[in-house]
Amino acid sequence: MNKFETVLITGASSGIGCELAKIFAQNGYNLILIARNIIKLNELACELMDKYNIKVYVLQQDLLENNAAEKVYESVTKIGKNVDILINNAGIGYVGSFHKKSLKSDKEILRLNIVTLTELTKLFSKDMVKLKKGKILNVASTGSFSPGPFTAVYYATKAYVLSFSMAISEELKPYNVMVSVLCPGATRTNFSKRAGKRDNKIGMSPDKVARIAYFGLLKNKRIIIPGIINKILTKIPGNLVYKVVGIYQKKLMN
Ligand SMILES: NC(=O)c1ccc[n+]([C@@H]2O[C@H](COP(=O)([O-])OP(=O)(O)OC[C@H]3O[C@@H](n4cnc5c(N)ncnc54)[C@H](OP(=O)(O)O)[C@@H]3O)[C@@H](O)[C@H]2O)c1
Repeated sequence: MNKFETVLITGASSGIGCELAKIFAQNGYNLILIARNIIKLNELACELMDKYNIKVYVLQQDLLENNAAEKVYESVTKIGKNVDILINNAGIGYVGSFHKKSLKSDKEILRLNIVTLTELTKLFSKDMVKLKKGKILNVASTGSFSPGPFTAVYYATKAYVLSFSMAISEELKPYNVMVSVLCPGATRTNFSKRAGKRDNKIGMSPDKVARIAYFGLLKNKRIIIPGIINKILTKIPGNLVYKVVGIYQKKLMN
């Protein structure tokens, strides 16, 4: 991949997505940043354009909306930019008992983490295949490797992201479209707070996770697991570890 290419990042207004935007900007890539918080996106875009002399486009889009992926694709077509790297980073989860959580919250997790991610991948990978060039980074989790009691739907969506990404990486490789999947462990972002977890100070910094993701993507690594402890944890079979995961997640419940 050359510099000056365009990277589309969903969920770029905070956390890992925001840090990914910074590292690609530092390396001369143009950006298309997507989230709902347009104020944060504009602030980030101004900062990165000033510092690195790149082009940054922002799209305010709620990725839970019906046809959100098509709307993003149409907006990108209007901008007239080809997406060289697609990063499906936006994701949500919750901690809590499955039977007590609303159907609405489950539907939102399924829509954002699975449906929109799959639709965006479909739309942009078709163009990449035509051009015989492109990269896709889907953000899963260390939770992709085991069931997650008290965060059951979230872990299951991330298992989907891992399985889906590995499968299409095999399909798309002959077309020079490389698919990587990032599996962070606990990372110090807004995610825990949004997920209704007790304030959890442990975890990696989002800039470190983004840096590891960036270099992993450039090397076409299929599965990128930041941090040695996370690497070791994901080697333990899910059917052995899920009860311990449940105890840990229950402790994080407010
Ligand atoms: N933090 C962790 O411990 C951890 C661990 C493993 C995996 N991950 C994964 O890492 C990814 C990034 O999470 P993070 O930790 O950086 O969390 P974060 O700081 O909460 O960032 C989430 C991003 O997703 C965007 N987003 C949420 N709902 C959206 C919607 N409906 N439409 C559009 N954008 C939406 C948010 O932007 P707006 O609110 O502005 O829309 C925000 O930019 C997620 O896929 C998460 O599952 C995180």
